[in-house]
Amino acid sequence: MRRIIHKLQALWSSIRQGNSGKVLEEFRRWLYSDSFSFGLRRDLQQPFVAPPAKIPILVRPLAENDKPKIFADEGYSLHIRHDFLDENIPTCYLATTTDGDPCYIQWLMSPSHNHQIQAYFRGLFPVLAPDEALLEYAYTLEKYRGQKIMPSAMAQFAEKAADFGARWVITFVEQDNIPALKGCKNAGFYPYLIRRERWRLFRRSLTFTPLPDGTPYPFDATSEGKTAAAA
Ligand SMILES: CC(C)(COP(=O)(O)OP(=O)(O)OC[C@H]1O[C@@H](n2cnc3c(N)ncnc32)[C@H](O)[C@@H]1OP(=O)(O)O)[C@@H](O)C(=O)NCCC(=O)NCCS
Repeated sequence: MRRIIHKLQALWSSIRQGNSGKVLEEFRRWLYSDSFSFGLRRDLQQPFVAPPAKIPILVRPLAENDKPKIFADEGYSLHIRHDFLDENIPTCYLATTTDGDPCYIQWLMSPSHNHQIQAYFRGLFPVLAPDEALLEYAYTLEKYRGQKIMPSAMAQFAEKAADFGARWVITFVEQDNIPALKGCKNAGFYPYLIRRERWRLFRRSLTFTPLPDGTPYPFDATSEGKTAAAA
């Protein structure tokens, strides 16, 4: 319920910003739609070096006094993330420039919070196994986009999952969000699952289908590979 209220508040903030198209888009989606997301994962037991961003960055957990700098003048995507902070599911990580300006946020969640994760997202993510972590809600502040901050920060956040015993770090990205898919690839993540989200008259159903090892990203796939991933 909280998530629905948050979504409605985020839509209201879109209207206030003059983006009523987002509201129509969401209502159309809730009425009748089928969408697909890739489940992506990184194996922390495989060596991987976090790539550098184009500017030097520092990573740490979000602090209370960072919030006004990140969540000022927020649109839909940022509003949703701001509301999610109220759920108090740890940990929201932050990447900053070397002089402390916030660039990128993302949540790394552990299986000890499965109950809260499932209650909020209502099955959007699988229940985490004891050796899994969920890394979600990536967001690069607009002025810092295109500087390879996502891959660098995401790769570093993922490694923090080893502190609570995770081997696999998982995340989900809609199949047409190419910037996010590229960011995940560059952070060491590979496709392993397809999630189908089906909406009919405001009711949602979800199915998860494992992908064969070695399934390529859509932008790397040959036409044969694309057909296999879509099947
Ligand atoms: C997805 C997102 C986090 C990527 O962050 P980023 O720090 O800009 O990541 P990168 O610099 O590695 O760019 C990723 C891709 O974005 C594209 N990109 C490049 N310049 C860009 C710009 N100025 N603005 C937006 N996208 C750009 C490129 O395709 C790039 O891929 P490349 O490896 O071929 O160059 C960011 O676009 C964002 O916050 N989007 C809105 C929220 C969102 O979609 N989150 C993910 C939900 S799963």
